[in-house]
Amino acid sequence: MDSIAIQGGAQLNGSIPVSGAKNSAIKLMAASILTDQPLLLTNMPRLADTRFLGQLLRQFGVEVTERDGADGQETLFDGREIRSTFAPYDLVRQMRASFNVLGPLLARTGHARVSLPGGCTIGARPVDLHLDALSKLGASIELEEGYVSAMAPKGLRGAEIEFPFVSVGATEHTLLAAVLADGVTVLKRAAREPEIGDLARCLIAMGARIEGVDTDTLTITGVTSLNGATWSVIPDRIEMGSYAVAAAMAGGEVRLTRARADLIASLTDKMVEAGVEIAPTEDGVIIKRDPSQRLKAVDVATEVYPGFATDLQAQFMALMTTAEGVSTIHENIFENRFMHAPELARLGADISVQAGEAKVTGVAELRGAPVMATDLRASVSLVIAGLVAQGETTVGRVYHLDRGFERLEEKLGACGATIRRIKGSGDEH
Ligand code: UD1
Repeated sequence: MDSIAIQGGAQLNGSIPVSGAKNSAIKLMAASILTDQPLLLTNMPRLADTRFLGQLLRQFGVEVTERDGADGQETLFDGREIRSTFAPYDLVRQMRASFNVLGPLLARTGHARVSLPGGCTIGARPVDLHLDALSKLGASIELEEGYVSAMAPKGLRGAEIEFPFVSVGATEHTLLAAVLADGVTVLKRAAREPEIGDLARCLIAMGARIEGVDTDTLTITGVTSLNGATWSVIPDRIEMGSYAVAAAMAGGEVRLTRARADLIASLTDKMVEAGVEIAPTEDGVIIKRDPSQRLKAVDVATEVYPGFATDLQAQFMALMTTAEGVSTIHENIFENRFMHAPELARLGADISVQAGEAKVTGVAELRGAPVMATDLRASVSLVIAGLVAQGETTVGRVYHLDRGFERLEEKLGACGATIRRIKGSGDEH
C-alpha cells in the first residue's frame, strides 16, 4: 500500500484548481439509474469512490464512459437498460454511500437487493432513517443476511416524511426515490448541504419537479419518467477547505480556483478569527498568511450546513496544533471522529479528547514522524500537519486519502510543498 512522505517547512505559494465535489458526484451518479437516457456529468473528480460506484453501476447494466471533455474530465452514464438490481456486499462495503442506489433502483424497477453498508470507523452510521423513509414511500422492506430487499411492485407513492434529525444521506436517498413516486412527497427537516442542492438541480434538469431547493423542506411532485441531462458537478468545498487550511498552516499565498468561497464561509470566518487573511475572488479565494506570525487558537463546533462541516474538523484541528492558546473542538455529528488526535500527537501535538470534545493546546513546533491515516478527512489533516513538522512525516494507509482527494501530491507540490508518494509501502506502522 502507498504512503505519502512530506518534508516539512516549505511555504505554499501558487494556485490550486479545486475538483468537482466527491460528495455530489457520487449522488449524481446514482441519479443515472433513474433514466433510460444518457446523463453526462462534467467537472467529474477521478477518485477511488467514483471508481467504486462506477463499477457498481456497470453491474446494474449502466454503461459508464470516462473521457476528457471541453471542461476537463467528464463521465457519460447510459442506463438504457437495468439488467440487475443486486448490489453485493463486496462493492457496497468499499464505499458507504453506494447504499444510496437502493432508492433509485426501487423507483426505476420496483425492486432491489442491496447490501447493508456495515460499520465505519467514524461512528455507528446507521441507515434506519433511509429505510423508514423508503417504507413511507410504500416500499416493503426486509432485512436478511446483511442485505436489504425492497419491493414496490406498483411503484412508490408520495408521502409526508419528517426526519427526526438532519441526515445528509437520508435526505439525498429519499429525494432520489421520490422523484419517480406517484404523487407529492414532502421532506421536512431535510439537510441543506450544497451537494443536496446540486443533486436537486440536476434532477430538475432531468425533468423532476422539486420545490424548496436549499431549504429544509423539499416538496417533490413525482413524474413518470426522467430525461437525460448534462450537469456540471459543484466544486468540492471540503477539498477547497482542506487546501485553505494547508495554506494557512504552511504560510505563503495560495489562490484556490474553480471554486466557490461562499461554500466554506463557516471555515474561513474561523480562519480569519485565527489570524489568516482571506480574500474571496470571482472563482474561489486567496489564502494568505505570514508564517512569522503565530495564529491564535479559536474554538469550533461541527454542525449541519451552513455550520462548520464535520469533514473539515480534522484539518482545523491540525491548524490549531501550532496556534497560540487552547482551542476547543466539539464534534456534534459523529461520536468517534477524533482518531486523528493520537496521530497528530505523534507529531508532537498536545491534544486531549473527552467524549465529543477535543482540547488542543498549541505547541511551538511539530516534529515529523510516521503516522497512519484512519479515515478520509483524518488523513489529509496529517498531511497538513506534516507541511510544518520539522523533518519527514510519512502518512501510511493513503488509500483513505485516495477516496476523496484527486492528485493531492501534485496539487500541493505545484505550490512548493516537498511531498511525494511512496508506492507499495507504509501500511505497517
Ligand atoms: C455525514 C455528514 C456529511 C459528511 C459525511 C461524510 C452532516 C450532517 N453529515 O453525512 O456532512 O460529508 O458524513 O463524513 O454533517 N444517522 C442515523 N440514522 C440514519 C442516518 C444517519 O442515526 O439512517 C445519524 C448518523 O449516525 C450521524 C447523523 O445521523 O450521527 C448524521 O448522519 P448523515 O448526515 O446521514 O451522515 P452522512 O450522510 O454520512
